[in-house]
Amino acid sequence: MFKHIIEENLDIRLLELRHAEQLYDLVSRNEEHLAEWLPWVKGNKIENTKGFIEAALQKFVNNDGIDCGIFYHDRIVGVIALHRLDWLNKKTSVGYWLDGSLQGKGIMTKACEAMINYSFHDLQLNRIEIRAGVNNLKSRAIPERLGFEKEGIVRQAEWVNDRYIHHVVYGLLKEDWGQ
Ligand SMILES: CC(C)(COP(=O)(O)OP(=O)(O)OC[C@H]1O[C@@H](n2cnc3c(N)ncnc32)[C@H](O)[C@@H]1OP(=O)(O)O)[C@@H](O)C(=O)NCCC(=O)NCCS
Repeated sequence: MFKHIIEENLDIRLLELRHAEQLYDLVSRNEEHLAEWLPWVKGNKIENTKGFIEAALQKFVNNDGIDCGIFYHDRIVGVIALHRLDWLNKKTSVGYWLDGSLQGKGIMTKACEAMINYSFHDLQLNRIEIRAGVNNLKSRAIPERLGFEKEGIVRQAEWVNDRYIHHVVYGLLKEDWGQ
């Protein structure tokens, strides 16, 4: 089993079908918190969660991405993913979400740091992108905290919660990563 320990009581694990129920419960409890920024949350059903994990595992088999659960004190509290592995250009992008009640502890920043190290050192990638809604300040704070460069704005990039949102694009190059 793939498991990366970040610190005591915090690790990330490859999502497997046996996590579906826990993950579905987490999304259900956080529907309001997540729906503001994530388009797939509203009306989520257990079948969707199972389908998501199956598709994620297929992506992993195809060498095209990796979706991990974030585990805090051994229970799932969020997801972090490398959305697409572009081997030709040696780049990927990171996406994430966290249980609203566990915000403010640095859990996602630490999980991101682990995924960045994995991307640069294990996968030998050269560039990592993070996109966040212009007004999603908590999400934007993560790449900013980790030293990503703000590279630009993509206008009306996504339809979420009945409106188009602009994305800020952040990029990090291997040569800029000190670790
Ligand atoms: C985006 C999201 C994951 C950010 O969560 P978060 O808890 O703010 O991020 P972190 O877990 O990295 O925690 C950072 C906070 O912990 C604090 N912190 C405490 N210890 C820390 C540590 N060791 N390292 C870093 N930050 C630490 C930081 O100061 C910061 O607090 P602040 O927000 O009061 O400034 C969360 O808000 C979320 O899931 N939102 C909904 C979904 C979403 O928008 N996803 C992204 C789509 S682009």
